[in-house]
Amino acid sequence: MHVRRWLQRGLAIAASVPLIAACEFSGPQSALDPAGPVAQAQRDLFVWTLWLSVPVMVGVFGVLLYSVLRFRAKNAEDERAIPHQTHGNFKLEIAWTIIPVILVILVAVPTVRTIFSTEQRVEAGPDDLAVHATGYQWWFKFDYLDHGFTTANELIIPVGTRVVVSLDSADVLHSFWVPNLAGKRDMIPNNDNQVWFVADAPGTYYGQCAELCLGAHAYMRFRVIAMEQPDYDRWIASFQNAAAQPVSADPLVERGRALVAQKGCVACHAIDGYRPGTEVGNPDFPSLTNFGLRTTVGAAIADNTPENLAAWLRDPQAMKPGNYMPTLWRADDPNREDEIEAIVAYLLSLGRDGQASGQLTLGGIHGGQ
Ligand code: CUA
Repeated sequence: MHVRRWLQRGLAIAASVPLIAACEFSGPQSALDPAGPVAQAQRDLFVWTLWLSVPVMVGVFGVLLYSVLRFRAKNAEDERAIPHQTHGNFKLEIAWTIIPVILVILVAVPTVRTIFSTEQRVEAGPDDLAVHATGYQWWFKFDYLDHGFTTANELIIPVGTRVVVSLDSADVLHSFWVPNLAGKRDMIPNNDNQVWFVADAPGTYYGQCAELCLGAHAYMRFRVIAMEQPDYDRWIASFQNAAAQPVSADPLVERGRALVAQKGCVACHAIDGYRPGTEVGNPDFPSLTNFGLRTTVGAAIADNTPENLAAWLRDPQAMKPGNYMPTLWRADDPNREDEIEAIVAYLLSLGRDGQASGQLTLGGIHGGQ
């Protein structure tokens, strides 16, 4: 009977081993797969603490297991008997006081050192990229302070440059987190938190709001896209020239441009170069300037393809429940699909016209699947 019970427990433990082994250490959003010095220092600290705790765990569980097996009651008489009482073993008391003190020192010194090296406040200098990030329910706004333009949900950075991000929120608490690049940092209204990091290699790094902010919190994502300097310079130039970008001659694009006003999009979404000489949009909604260069739709919940963009326009609530984008067409509106097609063509043309290659070179997804 006993043998069978132990066998069952042994099997349960054995069955869980492949589950633990399946844990992903190098996924696109893994803090254990650093792509820059800040994340590297934080990972090294975690790994050091982990290895330090392994002998403690083995020792404690080993003694526990030994005691349970060695001293268990073997018959009814054992169960009634009071075990031999001991107290005040001087050598043991000294040992289990000194060992934890040493362990705490071994954890505390590198922890404090890492906190000071990665979380100290820095002043953005001329060699840094200074960005002001604002969290909104449920998207991210990025103001490029040195260049004077704004974008949404995608933070484009040059490789090897320190990026200094001042963090703010327009409503509730959010948290800025790109696990491959740096630890999470809260975005608090009227509080000037800061995070800084460097990306070592070109690539796409997934970010996520890490503070429960109601509604579509789980869909409040963003991407940090690190580019080689020449690609980054082209991207910057494209934004700086957005207001003067040539108007496409494609009739579908021109129809989409007209619809963007008729359907009311421009009341919320700013689009530099929408019509030369017209101001459109509200800074508290995602800017669509150069939307054709974006890789995602709906705060990084889907790839920016014509199909996904059309699905987003057709029924934003179906793709991202709770967001503030209204549904612009009734389901039985006979013009719906035609109009969506034109708006998609217009939005995807933004930033792509007038560029020799049509698309910027993007690195692969870090830890990609
Ligand atoms: Cu913003 Cu969660």
